[in-house]
Amino acid sequence: MSINKEIKRVTTNTLQKMKETGERISMLTAYDFSFGRIIDDSGIDIILVGDSASNVMAGHETTLPITLDQMIYHAQSVVRGISRCLVVVDLPFGSYQGNSKEALASAIRIMKETGAHAIKMEGGEEITEGIRRIISAGVPVMGHLGLTPQSIYKFGTYQVRAREEAEAEKLRQDALLLQEAGCFAIVLEKIPATLAGEVTGSLTIPTIGIGAGGACDGQVLVMHDMLGINHEFRPRFLRQYLNLHEEITKAVRQYISDVKSGDFPNEREQY
Ligand code: KIV
Repeated sequence: MSINKEIKRVTTNTLQKMKETGERISMLTAYDFSFGRIIDDSGIDIILVGDSASNVMAGHETTLPITLDQMIYHAQSVVRGISRCLVVVDLPFGSYQGNSKEALASAIRIMKETGAHAIKMEGGEEITEGIRRIISAGVPVMGHLGLTPQSIYKFGTYQVRAREEAEAEKLRQDALLLQEAGCFAIVLEKIPATLAGEVTGSLTIPTIGIGAGGACDGQVLVMHDMLGINHEFRPRFLRQYLNLHEEITKAVRQYISDVKSGDFPNEREQY
């Protein structure tokens, strides 16, 4: 007997329906095949191939150094591991800010070379021309407002953004502009929960929060942070579900000890 295991893929339309019915959207980052597969099999709605790969995979201090070629490599690996969720890929710093033609060329490379389903871009009014051009080529775009790590040297700090009314008002306007430009969703990073709730209520497209409170339509975390791999990073907004740093350290120490003592491999572990 053959079992009809029809896979229901998550699309941008699915996310829109989730906003309308009040079902929360779950999103996590992944940067490789193995974790992409585990997270997809677990039932996540969206995998973000984030430029946070620059920090957690490559060990850079900021997201600025990662290149378009490197993002494409990570996205290709993730896409090979998934069969159901929506895969969104960050356009890295320097691949879209120059002009809308450059932005479109970068987005097209990601879509053609990786098989991902959408791209994400940081910024508001200043990048709407690029967003429109990319969307008119048929590529779905997710926006990103609030703490936008590619602008860290402009902010000078990773603290909460838009506490002041002028910045909050710009964020409200930018969110509406991104929606008008055709974005299918917007990430709101590290802003006051009341502001995120207000923005979420003012939009017809979903918001996905990180450090932006519970009123957003969905939540995203960096997978390495929520699994406790990157164990030094403990901001208030982060819920750590595992302490993998500790678990992995224990396992590696046990392995070293087994090798040194001659316990590994034993009779059953050899040919
Ligand atoms: O790159 C990333 O991981 C992100 C999330 C923090 C939203 O942009």
